[in-house]
Amino acid sequence: MTLSPDHPLKDGRTAQSPLITAYRGGRPSRKPVWFMRQAGRSLPEYRKAREGVGMLEACLRPELAAEITLQPVRRHDVDAGIFFSDIVIPLKLAGVDVDIVPGVGPVLANPVRTETDVAALPRLTDAALEPIREAVRLTVDELGTTPLIGFAGAPFTVAAYMVEGRPSRDHLGPRTMMHGDPGTWAALMAWTADASGRFLRAQIEAGASAGQLFDSWAGSLGLEDYRRFVAPYSSQALDHVRDLGAPLVHFGTGTSELLGAMYEVGVDVVGVDYRLPLHEANRRLGGRVVLQGNIDPALLAAPWNTLEAHVRDVVKGGASAPGHVVNLGHGVPPETDPDVLTRVVELVHSITY
Ligand code: CP3
Repeated sequence: MTLSPDHPLKDGRTAQSPLITAYRGGRPSRKPVWFMRQAGRSLPEYRKAREGVGMLEACLRPELAAEITLQPVRRHDVDAGIFFSDIVIPLKLAGVDVDIVPGVGPVLANPVRTETDVAALPRLTDAALEPIREAVRLTVDELGTTPLIGFAGAPFTVAAYMVEGRPSRDHLGPRTMMHGDPGTWAALMAWTADASGRFLRAQIEAGASAGQLFDSWAGSLGLEDYRRFVAPYSSQALDHVRDLGAPLVHFGTGTSELLGAMYEVGVDVVGVDYRLPLHEANRRLGGRVVLQGNIDPALLAAPWNTLEAHVRDVVKGGASAPGHVVNLGHGVPPETDPDVLTRVVELVHSITY
């Protein structure tokens, strides 16, 4: 199946936008920029909208999720909206007992550690994804010619939460399981690939013009483990959406040594974290891959002159690649002054190349 004729990528709304043009390796009319976690606690209007509403509940109320997605687009003139949701939403919709605890992150009532635990996981149905499709429809109706980026967690990052039951620094649980109980690992990764793949497909079918796979914790793996125990399932997740033809982006943190392998799961764009200059990322990828990134979020709180010089450096480094979309090297820190983000957008748009 392909996208319907009234999809924003098909009906002329977003196909020529700066973001989609750059993702496809063309030369956009202006340098596109958006920020991971642009919707969130840095915005007073977000904190107001979220008053008394839990994180997952906010994601599952279509009007609220659409409103929160639109807030940073209205405020900053960024070149994309990123759908307001979370990587654990597919688990929640499948019926897994998961919550996002303020200040902690995703917590599961029953961590998944054995073959029996994996076999008991409920399958995510397409019907359960209806609130997601509805939120995307409401969002793209208002976005007009600005593309919406859909996303999903990569199987490793999602499975890391499922095995540990909560955020962890070293991801020892999942790393032990992949070696110590490879059968259970394979079954768990196949389950998460299916859930994340369906979640992403629902967003793109309902109107998102691109998709980003977040493997935020892949950087805790060596290249060999990444290739053997993780990459095949990330590829499987993306198999759910390849026929739709929307550009696909793959991002993780601490992934300087994994960039080639992350590209090879089959994406159009590789997101680079703040640790590696873009000209070096481009060299490692053989000069053939569109890049996204990689302003250091720490510098958003530095004096403007320091930040401006850094942003100019990032834009210059990105110009070595076949295409570049400016972003942060990870998410917007909650204490960021939103006016600084607006100013960064103005700066990026003012740079001609
Ligand atoms: O603006 C955007 O980027 C879109 C929304 C988005 C959220 N989560 C909203 C959110 C996206 C793309 C995500 C993805 C996500 N969720 C990732 C991958 C990206 C990354 O940051 O590395 C991961 C690892 C998660 C899991 C997760 N959800 C964590 C670790 C946390 C932080 C816990 C905390 O309280 O700091 C969350 C919660 C979360 N997801 C918030 C938001 C806006 C904060 C919760 C709140 O505002 O109450």
